Amino acid sequence: MKLCVAVLLFYMFQVIHGQPDYQGFISIDCGIPLNSTYQDSITNIVYVSDYGFITTGENRIISSDYMEPSLAKRYSNLRFFPHGPRNCYTLRSLVMGNKYLVRASFYYGNYDGLGKPPVFDLYLGTNYWHEVNYSDAGAFNWMDIILVVPTDYLQVCLVNKGMGNPFISGLDLRPLNTTLYPEVNASQSLVLVNSNRFHMGPTDNSIIRYPSDPLDRIWTTYNAIPNCTKISATSPMHNNLRDVYDVPPSVMQNAATVNSSRIDFSWNPSDPSANINSKYFFIFYFAELQHVPSKAVRQFDIIVNNKTWNSRPYTPTFLFANYFSGVVQGMENYSVSLVATKNATLPPILNAMEMYLVKPITAVATDPEDARAMMAIQDNFGVVKNWMGDPCTPKTFIWRGLNCSYPPANPSEIMGLNLSSFGLVGAISTNFRDLKALQYLDLSHNKLSGPIPNFIGELSSLMFLDLSSNDLSGPIPYSLLQRSQNGSLSLRVGGNPNLCGNGTSCRTVRKKINGTLLAAIVVPIVIAITLFVILFLLRQALKGKAKRKATGHEDGSALLGSREFSYKELKHITNNFSQEIGKGGFGPVFLGYLENGNPVAVKVRSESSSQGGKEFLAEAQHLTRIHHKNLVSLVGYCKDRNHLALVYEYMPEGSLQDHLREPLLLVNHSLGSSVFRSPLMLHKVLSICTSPVSQH
Ligand SMILES: *[C@@H]1O[C@H](CO)[C@@H](O)[C@H](O)[C@H]1NC(C)=O
Ligand SMILES: *[C@@H]1O[C@H](CO)[C@@H](O)[C@H](O)[C@H]1NC(C)=O
Ligand SMILES: *[C@@H]1O[C@H](CO)[C@@H](O)[C@H](O)[C@H]1NC(C)=O
Ligand SMILES: *[C@@H]1O[C@H](CO)[C@@H](O)[C@H](O)[C@H]1NC(C)=O
Ligand SMILES: *[C@@H]1O[C@H](CO)[C@@H](O)[C@H](O)[C@H]1NC(C)=O
Ligand SMILES: *[C@@H]1O[C@H](CO)[C@@H](O)[C@H](O)[C@H]1NC(C)=O
Ligand SMILES: *[C@@H]1O[C@H](CO)[C@@H](O)[C@H](O)[C@H]1NC(C)=O
Ligand SMILES: *[C@@H]1O[C@H](CO)[C@@H](O)[C@H](O)[C@H]1NC(C)=O
Ligand SMILES: *[C@@H]1O[C@H](CO)[C@@H](O)[C@H](O)[C@H]1NC(C)=O
Ligand SMILES: *[C@@H]1O[C@H](CO)[C@@H](O)[C@H](O)[C@H]1NC(C)=O
Ligand SMILES: *[C@@H]1O[C@H](CO)[C@@H](O)[C@H](O)[C@H]1NC(C)=O
Ligand SMILES: *[C@@H]1O[C@H](CO)[C@@H](O)[C@H](O)[C@H]1NC(C)=O
Repeated sequence: MKLCVAVLLFYMFQVIHGQPDYQGFISIDCGIPLNSTYQDSITNIVYVSDYGFITTGENRIISSDYMEPSLAKRYSNLRFFPHGPRNCYTLRSLVMGNKYLVRASFYYGNYDGLGKPPVFDLYLGTNYWHEVNYSDAGAFNWMDIILVVPTDYLQVCLVNKGMGNPFISGLDLRPLNTTLYPEVNASQSLVLVNSNRFHMGPTDNSIIRYPSDPLDRIWTTYNAIPNCTKISATSPMHNNLRDVYDVPPSVMQNAATVNSSRIDFSWNPSDPSANINSKYFFIFYFAELQHVPSKAVRQFDIIVNNKTWNSRPYTPTFLFANYFSGVVQGMENYSVSLVATKNATLPPILNAMEMYLVKPITAVATDPEDARAMMAIQDNFGVVKNWMGDPCTPKTFIWRGLNCSYPPANPSEIMGLNLSSFGLVGAISTNFRDLKALQYLDLSHNKLSGPIPNFIGELSSLMFLDLSSNDLSGPIPYSLLQRSQNGSLSLRVGGNPNLCGNGTSCRTVRKKINGTLLAAIVVPIVIAITLFVILFLLRQALKGKAKRKATGHEDGSALLGSREFSYKELKHITNNFSQEIGKGGFGPVFLGYLENGNPVAVKVRSESSSQGGKEFLAEAQHLTRIHHKNLVSLVGYCKDRNHLALVYEYMPEGSLQDHLREPLLLVNHSLGSSVFRSPLMLHKVLSICTSPVSQH
């Protein structure tokens, strides 16, 4: 029981945050209070609110005139969109390239008292789905689309076309096995405009859906076959594993038949936007439901618009579903005839059928990585504006502040981003780094704070960067300064009082620290130093005792004053080791710049170097101990897993090699000694080898 509750909570927690549930279903009851959920009493599906899927729109309850006790909860309320030309739901955590059924449901119910259902357009991201034009205020309507998703998210957009505010009552997403509906692929989808998915059950208005249909397709009763009789299976139906439409047994267990030798009916798309170019995809399902006496024959032809679909006279299989499917085009009226053959003694039957509009998927959207980055930037800064749906496409709905490329037949890329005066607060989002084609970035006049991240300098297409009038602090990354100096980047950083690196040293900034900050920083430091001194004195006292027994090394802390760099820091300092300025004893030397703009030479042990960590550290040791007139001073070192490096002050005059040669010789000279036993932590090595020089 506890487990059940825990499991239930877990799943509810999942769906609340805009994720698919454990079956991969997303079931949104648009218009219920934010964060509320409930379980549908008939399907047991848990419906969630719009929260996490959309940020715009308002909730409404339908007019009491249209409230009926039998009305499903999801139709009693809706979400409508009085503002903006395009409002979009974003369904996340999908599997790119997988097949899904998406269903949008509409029940107008005169919620706005205007007595006139609006007409608007539905889009899936960039691709036009269909017009929504359901003129009956009191009718349940839904529109399905079966498609392959091009990305791991899908946006369902409602577009206002000046004929009333778009609204929506429910939005469902169901995953389909990719082997199902093989007609659906990356370039073609199937749309169910009206409820054109039919079973032949005897009861009018009976709906078959989940859990009877595990895919949660909605099947309604078909009543338009003239003079037909409904028959039912006398034994349980079976699933036909080769059925690529996976029609459920509950749908197949009823069929329509007639007293004559043929079933004739016509079907009309009843879609105002259908025209001569509209292509439809029909699927007819057949299964024998009755024990056919040995002498009897049920055999017929399937004729659609005067065209025979079966190549041989067709006899349905007992209790197993078969189907005939095909594309038909160019009619406002489709005729279907099932005609018994001459040899038949039993009339034709029909168990179920589906009629889809064939919809090519042609529009190219924004590059998925760019689109994801923009959505993340939007989440990060809480930008609303018109930032909904695909960022660049369709062009008429481009997100404010964006400038995109529209190469024919290729995804759009974001070339420019002008978020000047967008009210952005906080650190510069790391998501900007994914906008690989970005040329212009204007983030001026916001409240951005923290350092300018290094990755900005790595945006290779960037030509214009305006970070002025923010609250950024710290150094300007070397890569940016370099690009600004060589003219490949126009850089504006003015109006950031705490920025340094362009002429100004970071140190001058520190003087500006105010009283409270001072207290917050200095007091802990003083305490820490006091503690350290006490510990150090204690240790010295203990050492003194030990010294009497052991040979006695001085405890040197020559390197303690120098800085330890991480490998990552070195990468930044040297702009990814881009500028090699010489070769040292055991590897290359690179030019780099510290945060304060001071140039440094970074000497890295190469992979191929015969010298090991011990020798390397020995050099560090010597350099800090030996005061030599030609010697450059050591700024710090790096011992980060396998990476060993030394950071020196850079002396532009003369060859660095000259400056480095002598200490190297000294190091080599000391190799004969057996002092360097412990290659452990640098400070350990140091404490062991503080006196090697005195040994030779
Ligand atoms: C909905 O839930 C989220 C987190 O689960 C919370 O941040 C948000 O404030 C909630 N909204 C409302 C209206 O309760
Ligand atoms: C909406 O449908 C009605 C018929 O149901 C039709 O008369 C009308 O022209 C359609 N409106 C649009 C904008 O397509
Ligand atoms: C998809 O269909 C294949 C073949 O029928 C089957 O092996 C596989 O288990 C199915 N996958 C899912 C997720 O149902
Ligand atoms: C999708 O299916 C249609 C019709 O079967 C076909 O013409 C088209 O080439 C297919 N597209 C892809 C990308 O497989
Ligand atoms: C239906 O049956 C009635 C009488 O049984 C007959 O008059 C009528 O023509 C039939 N309709 C069709 C379409 O077969
Ligand atoms: C079909 O024929 C049977 C017997 O021949 C009869 O009982 C039944 O009423 C007929 N059904 C219709 C719809 O005409
Ligand atoms: C079917 O053929 C008949 C006669 O051959 C013709 O009258 C009718 O218009 C055709 N129907 C369609 C839908 O093509
Ligand atoms: C469709 O065709 C059928 C028979 O061919 C005819 O009875 C019906 O009136 C037609 N409907 C329309 C809307 O054309
Ligand atoms: C109809 O029955 C005859 C005689 O039984 C047989 O020769 C013929 O092949 C059958 N036709 C079909 C289409 O089954
Ligand atoms: C978009 O970029 C083009 C070319 O760089 C430029 O001409 C245009 O003004 C830009 N548009 C906006 C809105 O920034
Ligand atoms: C960005 O937009 C602001 C106005 O919103 C404008 O002043 C500025 O010039 C734009 N920046 C670029 C690079 O176009
Ligand atoms: C750096 O400072 C100089 C003058 O001190 C100024 O001309 C230049 O524009 C500044 N560079 C940046 C990127 O702000």
